[in-house]
Amino acid sequence: MSSACKGKIASWLWYEEESVGSTNDEIKKLVPEAGESIVISAVRQTGGRGRRGRVWQGLDGNLFFTYSLSFPISELSRIVCLTGLSLAETVKKIAPSARVQIKWPNDVFLEGKKLSGILLENISDNLWGIGIGVNIVSSPRLDDMPYQAVSLKECGIMLDRTEFLHYYLHEFAADLAYCRKAGFAAVKERWLALAMNYRQNIGIKTETGLKEGVFADIDDNGYLLLQTTDGKTERIIAGDLFTAEMKKEK
Ligand code: BTN
Repeated sequence: MSSACKGKIASWLWYEEESVGSTNDEIKKLVPEAGESIVISAVRQTGGRGRRGRVWQGLDGNLFFTYSLSFPISELSRIVCLTGLSLAETVKKIAPSARVQIKWPNDVFLEGKKLSGILLENISDNLWGIGIGVNIVSSPRLDDMPYQAVSLKECGIMLDRTEFLHYYLHEFAADLAYCRKAGFAAVKERWLALAMNYRQNIGIKTETGLKEGVFADIDDNGYLLLQTTDGKTERIIAGDLFTAEMKKEK
């Protein structure tokens, strides 16, 4: 193991590496030696992965980390939503007057632009790696997306990447404990309060094509409920949400 344990953050043992391909790959190597409750961050990430096979750029000074969490696959979509909520609420606590939104299921947008991305991958059995990238000081050009990216610094929010990591993991640990005690329905209201385009017209690119309708709700699994023009409600398990405004703003 090249990295030394730097201490504990909430219930995770924290490891940091100078340079990695992807923290989502590093955690898979580290778990057998370091145990099941770890977080690994990297100063530099050279082969970051995003959702749907996209690349996540490793711009200097930004935050790249993956932490482990044990839960059954039946919890997956709830945890996906919870990670986005904790991330959005972390930003809200740091900058209470900032406009922070969650684009279903868990992209956090700051002042209408993408701030962070989350990629959950299985490590083994019920153990999952939750990989998060946060634009702390700079943001990439997103030529292939209908929206722009932004960093905390570009919005005047000055914070060290390590400080953000601490704030986030404490927030997530508290949210997870609350969700396990009170149920997802209690957390869902907080999620919807920050949801982008809730009760508005949206488009969703899914594996089977583009679906359009009104973003009516999320259910108790975290799936999106889309009300289509024929009056039906479709349950969307995975996809990329887009709106007409996103295309205009680009
Ligand atoms: C997305 O929005 O497409 C998800 C991006 C996830 C990026 C993070 S950075 C840390 C971790 N390591 C990776 O290779 N990906 C995730």
